Amino acid sequence: MTSQLTSPFPAIRETRPGAEWWRTAVIYQIYPRSFADASGDGIGDLPGVTAHLDDLVALGVDAVWLSPFYRSPQNDHGYDVADYRDVDPLFGTLADFDDLLTEAHTRGIRVVVDLVPNHTSSEHPWFQAALAAAPGSPERARYLFRDGKGEHGELPPNNWESVFGGDGWTRVTEADGTPGQWYLHLFDATQPDLDWANPEVQEEFRSILRFWLDRGVDGFRVDVAHGLVKTDGLPDHLPPVDAEATEASLHESPYWGQEGVHDVYRDWHEILAEYDGDRALCGEAWAPTVDKTALFVRPDEMQQTFNFPYLLTAWDATALREVISESLRAYPAVGAPATWVLSNHDVIRHASRLALPQSERHDDGLGPDSPVLPDTVVGLRRARAATTLMLALPGSAYLYQGEELGLPEVADLPDEVRQDPNWFRTGGERYGRDGCRVPIPWTAEAPAFGFNDTGASWLPQPAEWAQFARDTQENDPDSTLWLYRTLLATRREHGLGQGAIQWLDGYPTDVIAVRNGDVTVVVNLGSEPVALPPGTLVVASEPIHDDTLPADTAAWLLAD
Ligand code: GLC
Repeated sequence: MTSQLTSPFPAIRETRPGAEWWRTAVIYQIYPRSFADASGDGIGDLPGVTAHLDDLVALGVDAVWLSPFYRSPQNDHGYDVADYRDVDPLFGTLADFDDLLTEAHTRGIRVVVDLVPNHTSSEHPWFQAALAAAPGSPERARYLFRDGKGEHGELPPNNWESVFGGDGWTRVTEADGTPGQWYLHLFDATQPDLDWANPEVQEEFRSILRFWLDRGVDGFRVDVAHGLVKTDGLPDHLPPVDAEATEASLHESPYWGQEGVHDVYRDWHEILAEYDGDRALCGEAWAPTVDKTALFVRPDEMQQTFNFPYLLTAWDATALREVISESLRAYPAVGAPATWVLSNHDVIRHASRLALPQSERHDDGLGPDSPVLPDTVVGLRRARAATTLMLALPGSAYLYQGEELGLPEVADLPDEVRQDPNWFRTGGERYGRDGCRVPIPWTAEAPAFGFNDTGASWLPQPAEWAQFARDTQENDPDSTLWLYRTLLATRREHGLGQGAIQWLDGYPTDVIAVRNGDVTVVVNLGSEPVALPPGTLVVASEPIHDDTLPADTAAWLLAD
């Protein structure tokens, strides 16, 4: 072990086999562009995050996950990385990052950074070198360049589509000006996929991991963790991806969830294990079932993976009971903690999503012409109840900035401000994810609601967001902010993250009732009020009268 692997923060760097921090942590996702803007240019930055760390301490979270802040042309807001070892000037400097890390650790908050290994930016020096080099060159071999089909190579090498819409392949012009090879991009054309069969790619990412581990980060959220390895020969995706494809068939493809991805995480597991302080990997591994998701967290792979089947579950007691039971079976079976998540920067905020019919496609975002727009009063009520359930569950939970304020999805962004590649690549057919990325409100009576002090904001904030501002909620014990703080403090005090749940019988089908240690949790997903069990009410997602739990409400009680 070399000297740079030790840390001046013993509490953070303590290693506790079996009781590692990530087994129970509540991790708060920061989307730096929209969190807080110290420079005043309308785009959030790292000094903005540092300035608000005390608010996160007051909220009661254990760790933050920072979405990408690396050098990037920002075509996918940082998920297109041009330099993995530097901070984009939009967000600050490496010194700002070090400062953030030190200040977070001083407060006992761990810091997880985002790693984007599936693709680089097209402005990454490797891709620029690949464009300048000839077909068959080592420069091209870091990516997935192929000759096209058809007499003159004018057709893409296979039928893969981009997740953001349109073809998964783009044809380049060779140095001599002739139409040339094609390269694969499962996302935007400015996000060329790397070839993970190439040892040079593998070695580069080992070195990137070490760069950030040496700086002291506590872990990595791994972007598109299920996509790095493609089936040899890049065969067509059958059946072709079309509007009729089911969720499951979209995942059974030559590019998602291939066996080879697990070798990558076994290798990275070893690297993290060389460091002190229980560093962790959390995979953004979209898989159709909880069991397939759990494959990523076998003992020698990642530590956590997002529980997207849980996030995707309808506001329905039977469906929720099932996914919770499945999760509490599948993750512990491989020795991993279950994780829980309701919102992130890619999905409709749960304060809106939970009021949408489950039959609506939720991955298109929301906009003025969406077939159904959510009732935001119902949505917020359900979101508060859903979070009250989630934070009672054993394991680790992820929160997304602004959900503690009860923010809804912004559905009425004007077309001309939209920035998500989904919007451009589908010709406006999908609104995309801008609606969950609007800069968050801190102060009701301030320019840009305190996001900065100039009033600039890369996406416009709705005027009615004054009511969601943190300072407005500070003075209101019924606010969503107070609810989150109470839930997090009680979760910590009663060790719910370490606990286990027991299902309670005798309630209507529309009601979820569980006990975790000495806390009883009752959630009413039906339309009729139900009687609360005996006990002392600790926290409820709505005001409680006459010992009955109203519709779309959750409560925690302690046995008398
Ligand atoms: C992940 C990210 C998403 C990004 C995509 C491509 O799904 O969460 O925001 O657009 O990967 O990197």
